[in-house]
Amino acid sequence: MKLSKLALLSLALWLATVAIFGWFFVRGNTASGSDNRTAVVLAPVERDLVLTEMRGLLIATHGILQGINANDMKQVATAARSGGMNAAADVNPVLMAKLPMPFKELGMKVHHNMDDIAIAAESGKQAPEIMGMLTDTMSNCIACHASWQLQAAQ
Ligand code: HEC
Repeated sequence: MKLSKLALLSLALWLATVAIFGWFFVRGNTASGSDNRTAVVLAPVERDLVLTEMRGLLIATHGILQGINANDMKQVATAARSGGMNAAADVNPVLMAKLPMPFKELGMKVHHNMDDIAIAAESGKQAPEIMGMLTDTMSNCIACHASWQLQAAQ
């Protein structure tokens, strides 16, 4: 009897932990921003990690354009791949939980789009089609930047 009470208690605690984690996973760790956007509040190293990923996305975008300009689809594919899902794979679960759901969705969309651009370049798609794909991808960059800023927790 004692044992089963303990088992129930640990089950309840486990469920509570999962529920709280789930709640944070959807809501993220946010505050009102210094402008009209919502701030995602991260530890300083986490903020640096996200911003490093962002600069990687800018480099990937530049590489794609440079490749198109030089008619070098190999470069387009390599640049796009560097901004693909591989670039997001190392994000840890604690940081993931602090990012609000729409933020995660937009971020994943951009990484998937980058992989799609790499596949298109590898499979012989022409420059105008790839430019169209990049334009669509960049509307996600703009949408995210319009809504969110990053704040380092004190
Ligand atoms: C899921 C949301 C999201 C997406 C998608 C996104 N960004 Fe960002 N990015 C941010 C946030 C938030 C910041 C910080 C803005 C702030 O604090 O004012 C940022 C900052 C940046 C910075 C500044 C980096 C630094 O060192 O300060 C660059 C460059 C950047 N993003 C490029 C891009 C490019 C290019 C894309 C698309 C290919 C992109 N971002 C897509 C959210 C996003």
